[in-house]
Amino acid sequence: MIKTIKLTKKYDDMYAIRDIDLDLGQGDLFGFIGPNGAGKTTTMRIIATLLEPTEGEAYVCDYSIYTHPKEIRRLVGYMPDFFGVYDDMTVIEYLEFFAAAYKIGPQLRRKRCNEMLDIVDLDFKRDAYANTLSRGQTQRLGLARTLLHDPAVLLLDEPLSGLDPRARIEMRALMRRLGAMGKTIIVSSHILPELADVCNKVGIIDAGKMIASNDVATIIKQVQPNTVVLIQPIQASQLDAAAKTLQDQNIVDSVQIASDLVRVTLKPNIVDYSALASELIQRGIFFSKFAAEEINLESAFMAFTKGAGAKI
Ligand SMILES: Nc1ncnc2c1ncn2[C@@H]1O[C@H](COP(=O)(O)OP(=O)(O)OP(=O)(O)O)[C@@H](O)[C@H]1O
Ligand SMILES: [Mg+2]
Repeated sequence: MIKTIKLTKKYDDMYAIRDIDLDLGQGDLFGFIGPNGAGKTTTMRIIATLLEPTEGEAYVCDYSIYTHPKEIRRLVGYMPDFFGVYDDMTVIEYLEFFAAAYKIGPQLRRKRCNEMLDIVDLDFKRDAYANTLSRGQTQRLGLARTLLHDPAVLLLDEPLSGLDPRARIEMRALMRRLGAMGKTIIVSSHILPELADVCNKVGIIDAGKMIASNDVATIIKQVQPNTVVLIQPIQASQLDAAAKTLQDQNIVDSVQIASDLVRVTLKPNIVDYSALASELIQRGIFFSKFAAEEINLESAFMAFTKGAGAKI
């Protein structure tokens, strides 16, 4: 559905993006993650045919951005990170205005706009002036506008930014629903954990370079390859003995004692660590906690992107 080959955009001597390769199929929900200035918006605007690349190819449903931009615009819904709304229009008038621009006939127009208000849960504001909406409501109106012509491909540039926690959860649920409808979605964010549970694929971009692109489980492994297991002996006096036993196991990389816990870092890519439990029990060390530490995707991601991008 979306394919880019060595997509590159240069401004003078500066590469906004360099050699970006993407290959997304129908129903893929791709999280495009990177810090400020990484090149997310640039990539999405090129795919939406709003910006010409310097080099490389981009296709939507096999249409090239160079030869078939009109076809691509019909297939793509692009939601920019910021968009203005007109002062003197109500929500429903705003949507009907764009529906008319998309050449949706008058018969169908009202029905379609009502459906969109329903999907983004904004029906209760249908007669409010668009410029009186809150930021989150404006985002949802923008998404409704993006969905009007029933695009097969959605490019959502930071749709979660500025939303409160509840609105984030709702927006993520909405993205899941759209993915389940078979739409191919690229959604950008600065924050990996925010998208990791919604997307099936993730790309991490930094300083114009795609530094990792894969399914979510693989990316998580890449950002944090070592599982950490936290073990709490029932008897605090056994902390040292537990640490010593664990240190001697061949799947263990390192062991630390942190207050009443033993923190065990496994060697990379070890997934089965049940042997540690049986070793401890055999030595008469019983525990009240034995669990993998929750992955801190945020800090792992920070370490991953720090200076890892292309320095040109
Ligand atoms: N018109 C332009 N002229 C010169 N440089 C530009 C232009 N547009 C973008 N850039 C540069 O290209 C790089 C990528 O910008 P882009 O907007 O794609 O980043 P982004 O990942 O969307 O960042 P953000 O998270 O801040 O939205 C930045 O260094 C930016 O300054
Ligand atoms: Mg951007």
